[in-house]
Amino acid sequence: MSGQAIDTNAMTLIRYVLAEQKKFPGATGDLTALLNSILTACKAVSSAVRKAGIAKIFGIVGQTNVQGEEVKKLDVLANDLFINMLKSSYTTCLLISEEDERVIEVETDKRGKYIVCFDPLDGSSNIDCLVSIGSIFSIYRKTSTGPPTEQDGLQSGRNIVAAGYALYGSATMVVLSTGNGVNGFMLDPAIGEFILTDPNMTVKPRGKYYSINEGYASLWDKAVTEYVKRKKYPENGKPYGARYIGSMVADVHRTLKYGGIFMYPATKDSPNGKLRLLYECNPMAYIIEQAGGLASSGKIPILDVVPKKIHQRSPIFLGSREDVEEILDLYKQL
Ligand code: AHG
Ligand code: MN
Ligand code: MN
Ligand code: MN
Repeated sequence: MSGQAIDTNAMTLIRYVLAEQKKFPGATGDLTALLNSILTACKAVSSAVRKAGIAKIFGIVGQTNVQGEEVKKLDVLANDLFINMLKSSYTTCLLISEEDERVIEVETDKRGKYIVCFDPLDGSSNIDCLVSIGSIFSIYRKTSTGPPTEQDGLQSGRNIVAAGYALYGSATMVVLSTGNGVNGFMLDPAIGEFILTDPNMTVKPRGKYYSINEGYASLWDKAVTEYVKRKKYPENGKPYGARYIGSMVADVHRTLKYGGIFMYPATKDSPNGKLRLLYECNPMAYIIEQAGGLASSGKIPILDVVPKKIHQRSPIFLGSREDVEEILDLYKQL
């Protein structure tokens, strides 16, 4: 029957992950349970985001976080949701959140084998003006013996088991990779499930948008300055379009969907850029590489950076392979 209201065989995210799990005979189902707890957090954040104004959870709480940023009520709410859902999944032993200065060791009676680095609410400066925001997560296995310590969280992105993000935009979407390509799942609020709408997402080899905060142009290095000039005044062909939302999740999602390049480079004031390696750069680099694109610090692939501190920052250039290679060539030349 066409135009059926409810799809009786909808491919939900959990169905998709269960099918992936079946490919690994020794799988315990823990990763599926962990992802399910993350989805619950994302659904709750999505609901909070969509009624923030009415429920009076806009605005700031009058604190600053370890990043020195004003903490928004939704930042705190999202962080509490992620921590509680992750702990109660009985699959995690260590959590690293943008909003917590130190690592969060899960109580022994709730411990599992996974480590989760997450940005509970990305793009906080856009909350009060209703511009798209998101949540970002990456999952690792604890490889050491003994109780979990900060050192267990300092693994390179090459060890990521799964990573993804939720985008609270005109619709709520989760984009996920468990190491076998990238898939996009749209939240169907009617049944509270994420439905596979964008199977096997890949990023074009070259796009026509560049994305960077041009307000810092006076602080860029020579390579970024020359690169952006070439996008605006190309020797041949049309100029690129400029797009910058100021929420990493939204800027990266557009780059994944349409192609092009997203850049948050080092500046004279911030020699390591602004974006944090563990819960912004690494998960996004993992997704983009899984989709056939590139993600670099300007010197080496983001996923090869070995973290020394849990909140360390990295410059990042990610997106279409040819677009990223162009700026990397300029770094070699200039
Ligand atoms: P968060 O809200 O989690 O602190 O992240 C904000 C980040 C990221 O979302 C975005 O790409 C970047 O800040 C924008 O920074 P500028 O305002 O300096 O461009
Ligand atoms: Mn922040
Ligand atoms: Mn962020
Ligand atoms: Mn954040």
